[in-house]
Amino acid sequence: MDTYNVLLIGAGGREHSIAWKISQSEKLDKLYIAPGNPGTAKIGKNVPLDVSDFDKVYDFIENKGIELVVVGPEGPLVDGITDFLRERNIPVFGPEKNAAMLEGSKEFAKEFMVKYNIPTADFAVFSSLDYDDAFKFIQLKDTYPIVLKADGLAGGKGVFICNSEEEVKSRLLAIKKDKTLSEAASKLVVEEFMEGEEVSVFVISDGHTSHIIHNAQDHKRIGDGDTGLNTGGMGAYSPAPILTEDLLVRIQSEIIEPTITGMQLEESAYTGILYVGLMITEEGPKVVEYNCRFGDPECQVILPSLNNDLLDLIIAATEQRLDEKSIQTDDKYRCCVVLASEGYPVKYEKGKVISGLDETDEDILVFHAGTTHKDGKILTNSGRVLNVVGSGKTLRGAIENTYEAVKKINFENCYFRKDIGHKGLKRVSNL
Ligand code: AMP
Ligand code: GLY
Repeated sequence: MDTYNVLLIGAGGREHSIAWKISQSEKLDKLYIAPGNPGTAKIGKNVPLDVSDFDKVYDFIENKGIELVVVGPEGPLVDGITDFLRERNIPVFGPEKNAAMLEGSKEFAKEFMVKYNIPTADFAVFSSLDYDDAFKFIQLKDTYPIVLKADGLAGGKGVFICNSEEEVKSRLLAIKKDKTLSEAASKLVVEEFMEGEEVSVFVISDGHTSHIIHNAQDHKRIGDGDTGLNTGGMGAYSPAPILTEDLLVRIQSEIIEPTITGMQLEESAYTGILYVGLMITEEGPKVVEYNCRFGDPECQVILPSLNNDLLDLIIAATEQRLDEKSIQTDDKYRCCVVLASEGYPVKYEKGKVISGLDETDEDILVFHAGTTHKDGKILTNSGRVLNVVGSGKTLRGAIENTYEAVKKINFENCYFRKDIGHKGLKRVSNL
């Protein structure tokens, strides 16, 4: 059997879980992770590459005989790493720049959805020079809440739900003052607020054939009961009981198929992982956002459920052979609790010693996100530090197992949400 030298790009909990899953593949020869983290270092070889320097990445690929590149985060995809490497005949799993626009530009995504009749919230787009027009538009509309979104990538910090005219006014001023945000908001999308429950569906596509891998629910707010600031994600569980078979069929036919076909028609065939963020409204499922990669921390609960060999699926996707594959997942629930540094997502300390990492039970997975090595110890090194993943036959069991494991791990000023999965519990009968 052919085996592959693989380079995985990224450094978060998502990439640790991808590395963990790929390392189980019979098709793997050597796994390199750039730059990786102390978790991935136990599975493959971390390489301290600046992944925004595509020439350096290519030199490394040539030197090590890399046969496949798997890209974890959105940044390099939106910047065109797939195009750059494919031009040099290197197989890459991840969409090309034009296709990654589904995440890279909200305006592009919204206009695409209108063109292909994919259900989403009504919207209007304004350039940064027209903020006064945006304000007048919102005043005339006079319906709250209303959603303001920066067009470009803003690391999850570019979306504002405003409950009044005053809030819109002060938010527009704040966007103008913030340099990074005002760059991402050189165009501003004003969007109707959708009432409902959010859920994420993860799809693998080779440009023509696509399969749903699984679904999950994220917890984006910092505080229990979905309160406080937005974060990269404080925990996830999978599958989400809100997604009935009927809903999944609708999502497939009303959203996923038209998206994949639409991208073909746009001559930007979509290869890689497509993350579809949905709102389940009274009128049915509607798209909140597309992302061009796995979610973090959703990936950490999805991949342990996948019975397929992930590398085999990825190879099939890069060779346009996904029609030969079908997805198999187990029937367990999984829960992921993110251990964060107190103060995240605003201001927090780093460099705290982490204890208890080897004390969790065998069926618990601990993925590293923001950690570092020093003098034989593992220290905190970012806002989101670790992802603890437990499983169970029921959602309640999965949640309990995960929180039991969380108790064993410690660092100074460790913060985590206590209610991951509770929304799902309300929907299942086996309480
Ligand atoms: P996005 O980056 O587009 O996913 O937005 C971040 C979060 O804002 C989403 O996960 C939702 O919780 C919320 N959100 C975004 N757009 C809407 C909308 N039109 N209606 C309600 N909530 C929204
Ligand atoms: N957890 C949300 C994201 O990955 O975008």
